Amino acid sequence: MKLRSLEELAPAGKRVVVRVDWNVTLGKALAVVDDTRIKRTQRTIEWLLENEAKQVVLVSHLGKPGGKIVPLLSLAPVAQYAAKLLARRIEIFSEPEVVPHAQLSILENVRFWEGEESNEPEFAKRLAQMGEAYVNEAFGECHRSSASIVGIPKLLPAFAGFNLVSEVENILGAITKPARPFVVVMGGAKVVDKLKLLETLSTIADAILLGGKLANEFVERNMRLSGSAKVFVPIEGSEIFDIGERTSAIYEAEIAKAKTIVWNGPMGKVESVEYRGGTHRIYEAIILNEDAFAVVGGGDTLSAIREERHLERIDFVSTGGGAMLSLIERGTLTGIEQLRKV
Ligand code: 3PG
Repeated sequence: MKLRSLEELAPAGKRVVVRVDWNVTLGKALAVVDDTRIKRTQRTIEWLLENEAKQVVLVSHLGKPGGKIVPLLSLAPVAQYAAKLLARRIEIFSEPEVVPHAQLSILENVRFWEGEESNEPEFAKRLAQMGEAYVNEAFGECHRSSASIVGIPKLLPAFAGFNLVSEVENILGAITKPARPFVVVMGGAKVVDKLKLLETLSTIADAILLGGKLANEFVERNMRLSGSAKVFVPIEGSEIFDIGERTSAIYEAEIAKAKTIVWNGPMGKVESVEYRGGTHRIYEAIILNEDAFAVVGGGDTLSAIREERHLERIDFVSTGGGAMLSLIERGTLTGIEQLRKV
């Protein structure tokens, strides 16, 4: 799949709207827990500014405010963190019609407006008038038909950011004719999204190892999948906060045999230290299998493994959770369709 790349955009003198996915986990005192999603947008932002874009106007969502202003979901702490990381000033503003003159600025949480998630054409227009070109550097949001993902590119020349291109190439590269056995490890929250994906994944993968809330739901609903993948659930039963010793051993054995591994979502309630053991063991098993190509993704997964050793041994760390899984399931995403070269 070929996407219109940044090199095709001549940014000099232009105002460029860049959709990023800075939907990061905020911990105590609203501190950024894992900054992977911010760091992975850095190259695109720097490139635009170095190539003399007149203005770079960032757009992101944070959490699920549901079209209302929720002060706790302000992007201000994230913007402050990013400003330090980029060593640049980032001005935050709250109305799309009032973009500050600064070279680099960010609109307040785009989900404070109802029109974002419902992709209202009027709202897309309000966003599009902030620039003359659009860059999608929000891989994690590309499975959503929101105004800032599918609405703006109908109105402005649209291009794919560096990280977006690399995500698509790496993920499709791993799963198009995957080396087998192909093992999918899935857990974490966002259960409804993931349950839908399992059906298709069961026709692509050889084994699916479930943990976390997702496994609990799967067992409670007594779900059956139509594909030929062997599905594993924790043998300790449902309503557990982490996979236990015996399940971990079974999962480790499956991971050790794999030639392709996709992992999304922690195995337990990792916010509490005592329930991190299973997730840690999955991580260790993945990095021990040096023969397999391993792709790991999802905001909560990244937060859960951020302190682990040898992160570089994971072949590709995706910034997308649902987006990564949807790309595997469908071979494309609603947000990248509009960035394809014709
Ligand atoms: C994510 O965290 O996977 C993306 O930022 C998308 O968030 P969403 O599931 O709230 O749309």
